[in-house]
This record gives sequence, C-alpha cells and structure tokens, in this order.
Amino acid sequence: MASHVASLRGWHPALARAEVASLLPQAKLIRLESRRLVQLEGDISLEQMHTAVECASGCQALLWNAILWKHEEDSTAFYEHLRTYLEAYPRTGSAAVRSMKHEGKMPGVSSREFARTIGGILSSQGYPIDLESPEHRLGMVFDASAGIIACGWMVGSGDDSDGIVARRATDRPFFKPVSLDPRLARLAVNVASGPRDSGATLDLMTGTGGFVLEAAISNRETYGVDLDPFMIEGAQKNLDWAMPSSEAKLLLGDATQLPEVIPSHAHKRIAGFVLDPPYGRNSQGSLDHAELIEAVLHSSRKVAAKKAGLVLILPMHPFGEFPDEALEDEAEFELLHGQWSEIKSTFNKTGWRIEQRWVEHVHASLGRLILHATIVPQD
Ligand SMILES: C[S@@+](CC[C@H](N)C(=O)[O-])C[C@H]1O[C@@H](n2cnc3c(N)ncnc32)[C@H](O)[C@@H]1O
Repeated sequence: MASHVASLRGWHPALARAEVASLLPQAKLIRLESRRLVQLEGDISLEQMHTAVECASGCQALLWNAILWKHEEDSTAFYEHLRTYLEAYPRTGSAAVRSMKHEGKMPGVSSREFARTIGGILSSQGYPIDLESPEHRLGMVFDASAGIIACGWMVGSGDDSDGIVARRATDRPFFKPVSLDPRLARLAVNVASGPRDSGATLDLMTGTGGFVLEAAISNRETYGVDLDPFMIEGAQKNLDWAMPSSEAKLLLGDATQLPEVIPSHAHKRIAGFVLDPPYGRNSQGSLDHAELIEAVLHSSRKVAAKKAGLVLILPMHPFGEFPDEALEDEAEFELLHGQWSEIKSTFNKTGWRIEQRWVEHVHASLGRLILHATIVPQD
C-alpha cells in the first residue's frame, strides 16, 4: 500500500494534520516522531494529492511514496534505496532536488552534500537537471526535531509561507479589526468542508469576508451570509479585489433562518460551515451568545449535506501554546464570552458532534478556540 508523507508548515502542526485528514479522507494518518511530518497510507491518486496541496493552508508539500531515513542509519543504504525508488516511480522530463529544513539544522548532516549526491543520482538515471523550472522535484525534508529525512517526488511548493502575505487582511479594501487571518480562515474552510468536490462552503457570519475569500480562492462553491448590509457590501468589495471572476455569493440575511436565505439549489449541499460569531449582544438583540450559536447550528442542519462539517472559532483567555496537539477532552479553559459547558451542550442539542478542539495562541491576553464538529447522521 502506498505510504506518502505530508510535510507541514510550522505554524500549527496539529491543525495542519486535521486539515490533511479532512482534505484526503481516504488516507490513514500515522504520526511520525517529528512535529511536522505525517505519513499517509491509502489509495490516493496524484490528482487528489495535487488538489489537496493546492487548497491547503498548513501543508507545504506531499512526498509521493516517500522514503524515510533515520539519522543514525547508513547513508549508502539510503542512496541505494533512492535508486530503487527512482526506478520504481520513474518520471518523464527534467528534475531537480528541493530541500526543506524543519526545526533548524540537523546535527552532523550536510543537506547540501545530500542534495548534491541525489542530484548526481537523478542525473545518472537520465534526468536532465533544471534548477530553475524543473518538471519534477524530488523533495527532501530534513527534520531536525526527529533526525529524519523524508524524500520523494514532491507535490506542492515546499514553501514555508503559503503566500498569505499577498492576501493580508489589512491590505484589503474593506478591513475591520474582526477580519480573520487568511491562514486560519483557509484552514478552517478545509477542515470544515473536506475535499474540494464534496459540496459547498457556507460562511455563516461573513463580516469582511475572511472565510469567503479563502474558500473562493480555493475554487470552492462558496456562500457567505451576513445580517448587516454594510458588511455584505464591504465583503463584496474584498471579493472583487481578491478574485474578480469569483462566483461566490454574498447574501444579506439571517444565519438563524438559512432555508430562506440561501438559494434552493444549495439546500442539502452545504458540506462545510464556518462560523466566527459576534460577541456580546448581537444585532438580533433578543439572543445571547450561546442562544445565537444554538439557533445558527439548528438552522445549519436544515441545509447541510449528509456528511457536513463545521468549524467554530471563539476567543478565549490565554491558555499557553498548544500547536502540536488537539485539546484533551477534560482540558479546562475559559472562553472570553459565555461558558464552555453551555456551548458544548448547544452542539449536542442541535445534532452536531464535537470532533476535536485546538487552541491558537494570539497574544498575551488572547487565545482562540477552534472547534471541529460533524453532523450527526440525519434520517
Ligand atoms: C465577528 S464578525 C465576522 C468576522 C469575519 N470572520 C471576518 O473575517 O471579517 C461577525 C459578523 O456576524 C454578523 N451577524 C450577527 N448576527 C448575525 C446573524 N444572525 N446572521 C448573519 N450574520 C450575523 C455581524 O453582522 C458580523 O459581521
């Protein structure tokens, strides 16, 4: 069975693993000792891998049927293994070696020396070497945290940044302090919605359009709803700026009344819901924070696809940094608004199952709780 390796960006590996699991549901994820490498077992096509990396926020590259080498093992055996690998998985066209370093320098290992030797092996197997724009890249991840090198034909850019600098929220024509960071917005869209072809994504409370922009840029069928016409107008400006040809639909309406707001052809086809709710008493006045979330969860279920997912983001009191693991069930923390026990019970009441929760450290006085839920099967 194929065993690929995902190379994750360093920002929040635990969320990145959840994102890979969601984008490639056919894969079984196996943790390696390293923070940023995870093995994927299963029947995954190259095309599925391309689409997943193209959508992903937290995955810098996938290595096709990767070879793993442990620092203490003999490098000659590794080179031999690589020769066999290249014979087993030949590619046509030019090639180059692309090195990625995780967590600093691997003691006693010269990545340059490795890359040079591997370049020589590629050349000896008849690949024209093109360092500028190769048709294929042989990716090598040097992971200092676990002393592992992973190597294989690479899908994805291998860049540490996913290009979000070019999509910074502050650069958009319509910016508000509530605007979500594109890196987290993209990841939430992917965790909630799954593979790109699984159905549409709905941003339940769009604001300036943080989720909508990321879903639209990833070529997903996208809807965004907001009660406030000023926000809808602003989010539309941002969408026209980020993706002028986008077919994403921004809809003025109430997220507690979704069947009346979204077009009928999208009913029962929403695969991913993303929710970044307002705080304090909301524009509806009559509902408090937990009641509003409950009403929205209830309404979402009415338009959800069979296997829909949802990601909810809530501010919390700082909790320390936990980028490597999901929160334990019994972890105790305090939300900035409302009680966790109340939020938790709204999920149970409305037919959503909480799958996992993570914490993102924002600054000394703010953290974020990121929650993934899936729909409890409907009759
Ligand atoms: C925290 S902001 C969302 C920020 C957004 N994620 C962004 O990137 O800009 C919450 C939004 O929820 C909207 N809202 C409040 N109640 C709503 C409701 N019942 N239905 C739809 N939108 C609602 C508010 O108008 C506000 O724009």
